Amino acid sequence: MDWSVKHVLVTGGCSFIGSHLVDALIGRGARLRVVDDLSSGRREHIAAHLDAGDVEFREADLLAPGVAERAVDGIDVVFHLAANHGGRGYIDLHQAACATNLALDGLVFRAAHRAGVEQLTFASSGCVYPTSLQTDPREEIYLREDMVRAPYEADDLYGWAKLMAELTLRAYHRDYGMACASARYFTAYGERCLPNHAVVAMIARAFVRQDPFVVWGTGEQVRNWTYVSDIVEGTIRAAERIRDGSAVNLGTMERTSVIDAARAILERADHDCEIQPDPSKPTGPYNRVCDNGYAKQLLDWEPQVGFVEGLERTMEWYFAHHDRHAVARDLERQLTER
Ligand SMILES: NC(=O)c1ccc[n+]([C@@H]2O[C@H](COP(=O)([O-])OP(=O)(O)OC[C@H]3O[C@@H](n4cnc5c(N)ncnc54)[C@H](O)[C@@H]3O)[C@@H](O)[C@H]2O)c1
Repeated sequence: MDWSVKHVLVTGGCSFIGSHLVDALIGRGARLRVVDDLSSGRREHIAAHLDAGDVEFREADLLAPGVAERAVDGIDVVFHLAANHGGRGYIDLHQAACATNLALDGLVFRAAHRAGVEQLTFASSGCVYPTSLQTDPREEIYLREDMVRAPYEADDLYGWAKLMAELTLRAYHRDYGMACASARYFTAYGERCLPNHAVVAMIARAFVRQDPFVVWGTGEQVRNWTYVSDIVEGTIRAAERIRDGSAVNLGTMERTSVIDAARAILERADHDCEIQPDPSKPTGPYNRVCDNGYAKQLLDWEPQVGFVEGLERTMEWYFAHHDRHAVARDLERQLTER
């Protein structure tokens, strides 16, 4: 796709992933509009583009009347990332708030369809997968796209809303021929990620030299943490290549337990302390790793950044850009808020 001739909308473009997507699209020459209500996104994430005049920014709530319609006006390609979302602590403890995504996604999709956009790509999630497949961390199971099927069994209202959005997009394609795709992100991390996500939460704890060092859950839970530049590259390729509403996993196949991630962080932070698991805290499923074969085949996409390399980059950024006193003061609240 020749992005230099495209008018592109990124909803939620001030977020962690959204702002990296904005960077990548600007790099490809696209003309960008970002709509974000800054409920968790930050203007400074795209400040350099705003100063350079490369991005049209609208601070607005896409749930408010008329905002979605105006957002898609004159747009060729939509990336819909705006969502009421945080990490595990947030989505477990704020289910009603996450349920507003049902309305948000519906409004954006309908507006995009009515405006006749060329293509829409939706930021979906590993939370659409049946939770009963993800209970045993010793089992080597890789979640494949076709495992999301009736009877559906998504993870929390956040996951159900993502699933409903995926099914809505398939219906828009089937009924109206709308070109669209869902990209299922698996536990993204990297620069600008907030501490309501596990890796950055652990980096923040190491930064303030917490001792004992608290880990939510037993620590056995397995994840395939996926570095943000890989997520962004896959998202752009999904927009370029998927038109039929298909969903594709964007995640590594590296299986890393939370306790191993904690040890890797502590070692790099040179922090020798006791690790204290706390199973009473929100943990999510105990075994979530995807199969990325479909993305390889369909998008010619493969993760480029392994966990250790991505972790080191994220730690370097975090340590360079945060203040110890401020983190120590705010961390507990930040773990479950957005
Ligand atoms: N971070 C992950 O690991 C992960 C995993 C799976 C899916 N996702 C999805 O990727 C997207 C980006 O997530 P993220 O983690 O980078 O940050 P995020 O979830 O904080 O981003 C959401 C963005 O949408 C904006 N927003 C929320 N409600 C809005 C509204 N009503 N109107 C306008 N803007 C609104 C927020 O201010 C924020 O910038 C989200 O859709 C999220 O569900 C993220």
